[in-house]
Amino acid sequence: MKEKRKPIMSGFTHILHGGDYNPEQWKDTPEIWQEDMRLMKLANCNTMSVGIFSWAVLEPEEGVFDFSFLDTAMDNIAKNGGKAVLATPSGARPHWMSDKYPELLRVLPDRQHALFGVRHNHCFTSPVYREKTAKINRLLAERYKDHPALGMWHVSNEYGGECHCPLCQAAFREWLKKKYGGDLERLNHAWWTAFWSHRYTSWEQIESPSPIGEIYVHGQNLDWKRFVTDQTADFMHNETAPLREMTPDVPVTTNFMGFYPGLNYWKLRKEVDVVSWDNYPNWHMPDSNIATAVQTAFLHDMNRSFLHKPFMMMESTPSLVNWKPYNKLKRPGMHKLSSMQAVAHGSDTVQYFQWRKSRGSSEKLHGAVVDHCGHENTRVFREVAELGGLLQKLDGIVGTMPESKVAVLYDWENRWALDDLQGLQNEDKKYIETTLKHYTPLWKRGVSVDVLDFHEDISAYSLVIAPMMYMMERETIQRLKQYVAQGGTLVCTYLTGTADENDLCWLGGLPAEDLKEVFGLWTEEIDTLYPEERNALVLPDGTKYAVCDYCEIVHPSTAEVLATYKKDFYAGQPAVCKNSYGKGTAYYIACRDTGEYVDVLYGELLQQLEIPRALPNLPEGVTAHVREGGGERYLFVENYNGAPVQVVLEKNYIDMETEQTVRNTLKLDGYGVSVLKEL
Ligand code: GLA
Ligand code: ZN
Repeated sequence: MKEKRKPIMSGFTHILHGGDYNPEQWKDTPEIWQEDMRLMKLANCNTMSVGIFSWAVLEPEEGVFDFSFLDTAMDNIAKNGGKAVLATPSGARPHWMSDKYPELLRVLPDRQHALFGVRHNHCFTSPVYREKTAKINRLLAERYKDHPALGMWHVSNEYGGECHCPLCQAAFREWLKKKYGGDLERLNHAWWTAFWSHRYTSWEQIESPSPIGEIYVHGQNLDWKRFVTDQTADFMHNETAPLREMTPDVPVTTNFMGFYPGLNYWKLRKEVDVVSWDNYPNWHMPDSNIATAVQTAFLHDMNRSFLHKPFMMMESTPSLVNWKPYNKLKRPGMHKLSSMQAVAHGSDTVQYFQWRKSRGSSEKLHGAVVDHCGHENTRVFREVAELGGLLQKLDGIVGTMPESKVAVLYDWENRWALDDLQGLQNEDKKYIETTLKHYTPLWKRGVSVDVLDFHEDISAYSLVIAPMMYMMERETIQRLKQYVAQGGTLVCTYLTGTADENDLCWLGGLPAEDLKEVFGLWTEEIDTLYPEERNALVLPDGTKYAVCDYCEIVHPSTAEVLATYKKDFYAGQPAVCKNSYGKGTAYYIACRDTGEYVDVLYGELLQQLEIPRALPNLPEGVTAHVREGGGERYLFVENYNGAPVQVVLEKNYIDMETEQTVRNTLKLDGYGVSVLKEL
């Protein structure tokens, strides 16, 4: 599956650098269009995303098309030696369309019909909207299929949201009929509708979840979320069909949104040739930059793991955004560091929202390469141009990949189920936070990690870490079992294998089914602590680590006890267990530690399993990653501290930016980053 050294756009062997470009906002000032081309060259940009919200210009009246602005933009980009990421315009639509076909606007969960406005508010089922998008997409493909600027398709923009209109209700019922083989009793069982007299006696009674109707049937909520993902994927399929037919060699992507809860990207990835995502971290939080770096690294790893090949950072800001509660500037150097972080994890692009600040409306204060002043004499422009200069030296990195021996599992459906679950800590089960706690020890040791969902093949990994794996179907249970039996090392936690894929609790003792043998224990109860409460887990030598939030009471059968609880009525009972199963080992961490214990545990496991690290002995707040391919190895060293650091190197390298040889020690400025090629 791993394709080495293949550029994203065929024949264009450079890291892509550029961003969302909206010349349609500047139609009355052609001098700005010309100036944009000069500035793009100066900023060392080579790729522009065009047409994302251009529908009202492209089709000002129904069936009347005017591509002149896009013709000029595409020609200008080509003349400038660049490439276009050409968008389909379905993220927003012209007024005439919603006026004439109001059914393509969404119905909200409370069944109110939306008015025209904002964006991303169309029905994914509407036949008219599907027809309109397919038509404009076909015209775009026909017109630009041989255009030298056309590099790839950017389909719509950040698909998201859901629609509860009658068409969507009907489609949901059809989806359910298919899933349950037309057998309503199977659905009633899966949704456990004997509870509260919720039994369905006809398909027509079924509605999507609503605050004025049903929200407590967890199986129903899950199926609705699955349907929304499938319907979005189906809509996307309809959008891409004409593109694939007319331009079979031009890759297709759509921009994902990190942890966005509304869509299961493991499904949507099947509709794209290249994964791309929009990255807007909260840099420079008062406590530290490191947690932000860790979370961002995790998301880059996940986006790379979707297709196991280089991905695109489609959007990022060169300076600040305008939609957070507090919109802080990236400190000098941070832009290069955060951009190179993406590349270190496998992005073959650094792209921005946005090229030029819009003059009015809601995003006028959002960061851009070109500010309202209109010239290049700004800090942000200089930093972008400088970064572009470095990227131009990195053609050799295009198509290379990190190699991972560790997988961390993070699953959308598991998150949906945990978010819905009533019990434990109701406000927030902290699934993401906990997953990141388990990922942090790997990040700080410079270990490459793939991030997978529960359905992926894990057989090639030496270590698999799967926190809070609450919802598991039988097939997943079997895969975990086989993985350990064949020699894998698996780390799971409290809540493992509690419910099946319909969110029905497994019967017969937890963790479900054969997992009791794999972990050599069964779990009886789970205690939730108040937020400030702490217990501790105690190692045999007396070392203690703080425990918060959850303590499960477990009974080992074959498992060895690695740590016990310090206090409460379960003091002295197992808190962490290890079990040999087949040729492998399974760890069960029955409580949530505050992060110190997993740090020690993973430190030991990485050594035992001889898992490669990009560099040993990394200073606090510094990490390193390797991309390799075609016999070349590139080392990225990233300093998330505001202060300078020195990093010990084991080999000799050439610094790709300065072209100087680097031996023994690497000096990094505050927020400094270096890309080194192994000699
Ligand atoms: C999203 C959208 C862009 C823009 C940016 C602002 O990622 O795709 O159109 O609104 O946010 O950060
Ligand atoms: Zn709808």
